[in-house]
Amino acid sequence: MYMVITASPNSDGLTAACGRAALRGIERAGKTGGITDLCAEKIQACRVCGDGWGVCRDEHRCVIDDGLAGIAARLADAEGAVFVTPVYWWQQSERMKYFCDRLRRCEARKGDESVMSGKMVNLVAAAGGTGNGTVPCLAGMELWCLHMRAIPFERIGVTRFTREETLISIEKASVALVQADKP
Ligand SMILES: Cc1cc2nc3c(=O)[nH]c(=O)nc-3n(C[C@H](O)[C@H](O)[C@H](O)COP(=O)(O)O)c2cc1C
Repeated sequence: MYMVITASPNSDGLTAACGRAALRGIERAGKTGGITDLCAEKIQACRVCGDGWGVCRDEHRCVIDDGLAGIAARLADAEGAVFVTPVYWWQQSERMKYFCDRLRRCEARKGDESVMSGKMVNLVAAAGGTGNGTVPCLAGMELWCLHMRAIPFERIGVTRFTREETLISIEKASVALVQADKP
């Protein structure tokens, strides 16, 4: 099972189209998958508990009772994942950042026990404006993968100018993700 994680409030925007393309590729490669929309899950921001660390540091959990733990459990069971974010302010959308920030706090200090450890991940940044900021957005997601001991496999920037051809690339990249040998 592969997870496609999206984080745009637009259910029919560029991000959603990229998520559907990623899922098509996973299914074309013979695997099951599903799309998790972090905006629908209303994932909240880190509260920066205590003096900077809360129970996330040693208990590897978050005090906020929302969808984070459930998604983390599904990621633990997943063979790999595709993260698709809209580009906001040259970065991931806030909802993707909330999710990644909190999961990193809970998981990164677990090292090889992280829910993402050893998992291959495709990263997609969907920029619907000028297209500026696509590369730093992908760089931020790549760094997160390294903190989480995940393995970034493909990094794809899509703009509204390259939508049609890049949707095909995203689908093909999912096929390659499923078929790739781990490095
Ligand atoms: C707060 C905000 C900041 C944005 N910043 C950028 C940006 O830095 N670069 C860019 O190309 N587009 C930017 N955009 C446009 C989004 O990338 C665009 O709306 C994109 O299509 C979002 O995906 P969606 O179609 O799934 O909503 C921004 C949009 C918002 C709402």
